[in-house]
Amino acid sequence: MKQCKFYSMSVLLFLFLCTFYSIQAQENQDIPRQVLLTWQGNTSETMTITWRTDQAIDNPTLRYTHKAKRDFSKWNQVNASSFTFEPSKAHMHTVELKGLKAGRDYHVVIDHPTQPDQFYFTTIPKNNRRNDLIFLAGGDSRSRRDVRREMNELAIRQNPDFVVFDGDFIATALNEEQWDDWFDDWHEQMITPEGRRIPVVPAIGNHEVQGGYGQTRDKAAFYFNRFIVPEPRNFYALEFTRDLILITLDTEHITPVEDQTDWLDSTLSAHSDKKWKIIQWHVAAWPSVRDFEGDLPRKIRETWIPVIEKHNVDFVIEAHDHAYKRTEPIRNDQIDLFNGIYYLGDGGWGAPVRDTKNPEEYWWLAEAEKADHLWKYSISNKGNSITVVPVFKSGQEGSIILKNK
Ligand SMILES: [Fe+2]
Repeated sequence: MKQCKFYSMSVLLFLFLCTFYSIQAQENQDIPRQVLLTWQGNTSETMTITWRTDQAIDNPTLRYTHKAKRDFSKWNQVNASSFTFEPSKAHMHTVELKGLKAGRDYHVVIDHPTQPDQFYFTTIPKNNRRNDLIFLAGGDSRSRRDVRREMNELAIRQNPDFVVFDGDFIATALNEEQWDDWFDDWHEQMITPEGRRIPVVPAIGNHEVQGGYGQTRDKAAFYFNRFIVPEPRNFYALEFTRDLILITLDTEHITPVEDQTDWLDSTLSAHSDKKWKIIQWHVAAWPSVRDFEGDLPRKIRETWIPVIEKHNVDFVIEAHDHAYKRTEPIRNDQIDLFNGIYYLGDGGWGAPVRDTKNPEEYWWLAEAEKADHLWKYSISNKGNSITVVPVFKSGQEGSIILKNK
């Protein structure tokens, strides 16, 4: 009899716990998660804030202000646009804040009755800043989550203004678990101890696309729906005051190389006044690991490089090979110490790194090494000089490139 009573109590306790956790799980479904900052336009006057919930929300809102001490009820409240997409289970919410002032801190609260998400961001200052403009570049976070998290920690310690992420975020394009891990880590880690979230400027890589190359947008649903950047989202340009035009291209995952060339030419013409011109694309034109004569690297060299040389681009951020690489400054297929373009890559933010070619045997390679790393770009406060330095997983920095104009 005693045993029977004990058994009944255990069943009741089990049912109670199941109900409790199930109610908790349901309640948690409306909590804002995976906050991501991007730009769709002016980097000094706008910011796009996107987050997800696990269930539909009637009226998702956020509040923001640049006067943090102001009475909370006087903060500006904005309604978010919500959407879903196949094959994701997420409910996405996004807001583009416009009419912001340059170089200001904006405090944000994504509304929720018990667990609001709070942070701040800083708009890009206009010219003659107090500080250098600092951004990080890297790519290929893919499959080693522990290394990716170490790289995220390394990245946030650099206190960057933004991060340029050159594709291959995850390994399997339409696997939501992998994307969730990536966005959970980014949300948790890419925020400074003071609470400043870091915007990202993404590029599409072959792993964002089911099939890798020459596919349609639905095969890269997570890339196109999670990163709200200027349309068509796989190639676009962002301007950072008069100091920098940053162009993102698609190495043929959705749009053929030749279909972006006229746009590339006209965009660089329209920004001829910019001091620094930097481009990111995913597949390396000057590979440190893969075949130099591969169809795609060759096509990029033949199609895009004459255009970017004509417009005196300074740096190209490359990835895809999973190794540390610095080329010689290159122009007209040879080393040009004064007018050459540096191609810096090749992706090492968590993907398994690979053995490289021996730089002594390949004229275009200044350095190549099997190493997890990211790149740190610093544009001086007056805009007239830039330094670029690799930062390895250990925190150690490599050789610096310095350019003055
Ligand atoms: Fe790749």
